[in-house]
Amino acid sequence: MGRRRPPGRGDGQRRVARGALLDPRSSDMSAQDLPMDYSDYLHLPEVLGAQHPLSGDHNEMLFIVQHQAMELWMRLALHELTEAQRLLAEDAVRPAFKGLARVSRIMEQLVHAWDVLSTLTPTEYDKFRPYLATGSGFQSWQYRCIEFALGNKAAYTLRVHEGRPHEQDVLAAYGRPSLYDESLRLLARRGFHIPADHLDRDWKQEYVASDAVEAAWGEVYRDPEKHWDLYELGEELTDLETAFRVWRFRHVTTVERIIGFKPGTGGTSGVSYLRKQLDIILFPELWAMRTGL
Ligand code: HEM
Repeated sequence: MGRRRPPGRGDGQRRVARGALLDPRSSDMSAQDLPMDYSDYLHLPEVLGAQHPLSGDHNEMLFIVQHQAMELWMRLALHELTEAQRLLAEDAVRPAFKGLARVSRIMEQLVHAWDVLSTLTPTEYDKFRPYLATGSGFQSWQYRCIEFALGNKAAYTLRVHEGRPHEQDVLAAYGRPSLYDESLRLLARRGFHIPADHLDRDWKQEYVASDAVEAAWGEVYRDPEKHWDLYELGEELTDLETAFRVWRFRHVTTVERIIGFKPGTGGTSGVSYLRKQLDIILFPELWAMRTGL
């Protein structure tokens, strides 16, 4: 998106001078004096006008706001992940840490967000569940882009996006190297032996762990002083995966609490499907090499 000129002289009839201190208690100060309004800047009419419960049931609002808030945070997570990946590709390792740390904090915050949804009882959920029909978080295209960016290239998740407005974004994320792939390329540029098929491959294929990659991370961790930024990268990635695992765990636990073992609205077996997702390891060698240290 192109940058816009900040509001300035000429944008308001009785504009407040740049840098002038405003006294909100003054009777002189009115909305017309301000070149920008909070609500306009944040597009609050659109954001706050986007909650449309279908059932008329009081608790549906919680369900909608919870999902929308998580989608907003996912938007920022994707924004940061994309930038971190770009920085890593340019060898700007330290600046990339900033974004990675932010994504981990976002995930940690989303973990706590489940506490709010946990106040929804099965009885309350059942009142509006029929209105969701086949709608499910499984169809969240942003979530899928995050999973792809983190390297979980599960092809079976693509079908629900066919013909949907964001199909191309999902396919692009699917076909791109992941954050971990980019990290391995960095290790290779730093002289570590990373097999050629881990540096350039069909990025749509699921990642296959390699002994050589495990050995490379082991070398970094055995001599942190020598490879400090790569050591820090390894820890940033581990933080991120840890936070992501906890998010998955809190999701499945909340789901079990609310729907038990009923099938999901998205057509999966529900809790059984979500429990299988807990076995996914995003950055396998970063975990495996710890045993051998
Ligand atoms: C009452 C609350 C919730 C219930 C009962 C629930 C239930 C489920 C179930 C059963 C699935 C498996 C797919 C399916 O068959 O539908 C699922 C997937 C998913 N849900 Fe939820 N969910 C809830 C809240 C949320 C919230 C607040 C989010 C945040 C955006 C979310 C995001 C997701 C995502 C991203 C998936 C796909 C997971 C994957 O494929 O690994 N869910 N949910």
